[in-house]
Amino acid sequence: MREVILAKTAGFCFGVQRAVDTVYQQAEQSSVYMYGPIIHNEQVVADLEQHGVKVIGDLDMLDGISDGTVVIRSHGVSRQVYEMLEKKGLKIVDATCPFVLKIHKIVQDESKKGSQIVIIGNENHPEVEGIKGWCQPPAAVVDTAEKAEKLVLDENRPVCIVSQTTFNYNKFQELVEIISKKGYNISIRNTICNATEERQAEARQLARQADVMIVIGGGSSSNTRKLYEICKSECNDTFYIQTLSDLDLNCLGKADCIGITAGASTPNNIIEEVYTNVRTEF
Ligand code: F3S
Repeated sequence: MREVILAKTAGFCFGVQRAVDTVYQQAEQSSVYMYGPIIHNEQVVADLEQHGVKVIGDLDMLDGISDGTVVIRSHGVSRQVYEMLEKKGLKIVDATCPFVLKIHKIVQDESKKGSQIVIIGNENHPEVEGIKGWCQPPAAVVDTAEKAEKLVLDENRPVCIVSQTTFNYNKFQELVEIISKKGYNISIRNTICNATEERQAEARQLARQADVMIVIGGGSSSNTRKLYEICKSECNDTFYIQTLSDLDLNCLGKADCIGITAGASTPNNIIEEVYTNVRTEF
């Protein structure tokens, strides 16, 4: 029997889903803002703008805004941002992912104890900027072996290492190992979230089983590209599409089993549309 299998982990992770739902709930009211685009998906952000939700890009944009509600996205923000929003008298609806909030708590507690914080992650990522904002400065951010080698810390203070939630586990291990050799008094907190890894593992498994594999996601989404590469290595007939209109249904050929997965910022309605159409075609 021919079958179409949709990966259980396709699309939004728990934290992103929760944040997007929160903005839609708030959108019913007037003067609603999101602090940074809620996800890196143009369609969702445009749809929310249609619902009257505006994006605040940074603190400078707060000038001229004196009332309303600001939703904080899953990546979280620094303490300074919370304080600025409060000072402005804005209502804060915090949709920071609980896994990110946990990191904020760790770095805050460790900073109070006098530890120096090292964040393994990408310095320019909003999540890392947010985490940094809960550390006693200076917090170090490391994402390459070279930076780990060059890292110099105060040898008289303990060191606490945390990770950006989406960092690659093997890379994290490698960088921690380099830092560990420097002889500091180190405590390591692996704060990587396994949502990304689970999605990749399921995609690999599905691609092994499928004759044709469809990967849905934005063209500039790096996690979707990664999913595509994983699937392509297991299943030669793997197709990367942004929406249903990119899919040539003829490419499904005589496949007996078609697998579908999607990147972390692909909305459910796009996934459902592809799934329904492929099933109908069969
Ligand atoms: Fe998603 Fe939260 Fe993990 S936003 S990737 S569930 S840390």
